[in-house]
Amino acid sequence: MYTRKLQGSVVALTLALGSSTAFAQAPNLGKPINPSEIAAWDINILPDGTGLPPGSGTPAEGTRIYAAKCSICHGENGKGGANAALVGGGPIKDMESEKTIANFWPFATTLFDYIRRAMPWRQPRSLANDEVYALTAYILSLNKLIGENDTMNAQTLPKVRMPNRDGFIVRFPDRL
Ligand code: HEC
Repeated sequence: MYTRKLQGSVVALTLALGSSTAFAQAPNLGKPINPSEIAAWDINILPDGTGLPPGSGTPAEGTRIYAAKCSICHGENGKGGANAALVGGGPIKDMESEKTIANFWPFATTLFDYIRRAMPWRQPRSLANDEVYALTAYILSLNKLIGENDTMNAQTLPKVRMPNRDGFIVRFPDRL
């Protein structure tokens, strides 16, 4: 009996949704968004550097910014603290191995993207592009992936080769 009643109401609901009055008016989707509003959210950076903004930074500049804005959570010199270590990491042996920037991340450009969009944790999107380049340079230098005097910018950053660059199977290589 219960089942039959339920079936009855499913039929009634289907009829109601299918009836011409249900969507007689266009749904209200809000106001059209303009290109500058989209640009503020369109901040993806691709492995080849597409999307990297103008600006530059060095490890030395990053050292200062890191001490002021990052070390409280990530520890002195990126060694880790309340939050992840940003330097070091042993070889990945299995699923349980700790994954770090140096042993896991395949593209250096991701570091810029991540820091710009998400860090510092409580003030995301608060860093200037030069600061993000400097912090990226600092972290890459701590990991000995660039020299301590190398400048990072839209041209140099995509050329930094990460140790795990070939550790992933790229499903749609043509789209990169
Ligand atoms: C209030 C704490 C806090 C501050 C300050 C902070 N972070 Fe983070 N950070 C986190 C948390 C939480 C995560 C994500 C979880 C984790 O990896 O521990 C994270 C993750 C990261 C990662 C990814 C690490 C990985 O291996 O996945 C990077 C890179 C990073 N932060 C850089 C920075 C930089 C650069 C600054 C300074 C501008 C900064 N963070 C400041 C809390 C913080």
